[in-house]
Amino acid sequence: MALPSILVTGGAGYIGSAVCHALQQRGYVPVTLDDLRHGHPSAVKFGPLIEGDVGDTALVQKICAEHKPVAALHFAALIEVAESVREPARYIDNNVHKAQRLFQALQSSGVTKVVFSSTAAVYGMPGRAGAIAEDWPLQPINPYGQTKLDAENFLRGLLGVTSVALRYFNAAGALPEVGLGEAHRPETHLVPNALLSLLNLKAEPLTVFGTDYPTPDGTAVRDYIHIADLAEAHLRALGYLLQGGKTEAVNLGTGTGASIKTVLDSIQNITGKAVPFVYGPRRLGDPPFLVADNKRALSILGWQPRLGLTDIVTSAYEWHSSAIYRALMDGEAAG
Ligand SMILES: NC(=O)c1ccc[n+]([C@@H]2O[C@H](COP(=O)([O-])OP(=O)(O)OC[C@H]3O[C@@H](n4cnc5c(N)ncnc54)[C@H](O)[C@@H]3O)[C@@H](O)[C@H]2O)c1
Repeated sequence: MALPSILVTGGAGYIGSAVCHALQQRGYVPVTLDDLRHGHPSAVKFGPLIEGDVGDTALVQKICAEHKPVAALHFAALIEVAESVREPARYIDNNVHKAQRLFQALQSSGVTKVVFSSTAAVYGMPGRAGAIAEDWPLQPINPYGQTKLDAENFLRGLLGVTSVALRYFNAAGALPEVGLGEAHRPETHLVPNALLSLLNLKAEPLTVFGTDYPTPDGTAVRDYIHIADLAEAHLRALGYLLQGGKTEAVNLGTGTGASIKTVLDSIQNITGKAVPFVYGPRRLGDPPFLVADNKRALSILGWQPRLGLTDIVTSAYEWHSSAIYRALMDGEAAG
């Protein structure tokens, strides 16, 4: 009997490729649809890669007819907050309009179970302290967060389609044992940027934005979640939908925050080397504290994170030190 396929948009990207690994381990065939604007073909290791745009209705219908996926996981998106502020129309087009076309093409092809990559950015700047639950106000403060919320809302309203919107907090870490990890250009995330400075793979030192936040050490606190834990949550969400679960939005975080200084200390403890950094002013729209209340993920999906900051830093350090990572980035620079 043929193994069930899952359509994975953005499967050549950082998180999508890690989830493809988990799908293959669990007996699914991940069918990646990615236009490779930011993805890497070499990250697609566990199933076919179809190069194309998620907004191409005819292509999505053709893939559904050929591969008969039992569900879709939609990762493909533009992901940079600052870029979304500079170019909102591009974000609305890619993250909302193309997502809408994808969801409708899936619906018309009979693919009625969808897991959607959403984000903590849908909560914006929380007006109260504490871990953020799914019923907190949804008030994005940048176009990126707004596009993800708009796509969530559209998907929720689609007749006959059930979905889980997974609102990730800060995805981090790598799977060096299978040659996968973060390789964004430009890189905007803390852990890889700190490691690239430490490994002399970028010229300038890391900037720590803001030292006067109302947090224990003055730097911003975030909830860093390992991509292996994120991948497991996708498998749980998929199983939940395939067993008839209803549409939900679920936070994915550890429930424990780490300040920027804590992350830098952890890197120093693990690698024995200090990250070169400079202090800068706060960035507009950066909340002091973003940590997930992850109780719903446990109650609905039976999911809880297993890995912590040490696993994140150790795996990311191994990944960014690897020949595969360097070849990937050198190859791109050359090409
Ligand atoms: N990285 C994080 O910390 C984080 C946090 C919260 C949410 N998310 C969400 O997770 C998802 C994946 O993030 P990532 O870090 O893996 O990003 P990524 O850039 O590594 O991967 C996204 C992939 O989508 C592809 N893509 C983009 N637009 C496309 C289109 N129109 N058609 C086909 N392919 C397209 C890109 O080529 C890329 O391979 C995104 O939806 C993002 O909003 C990420």
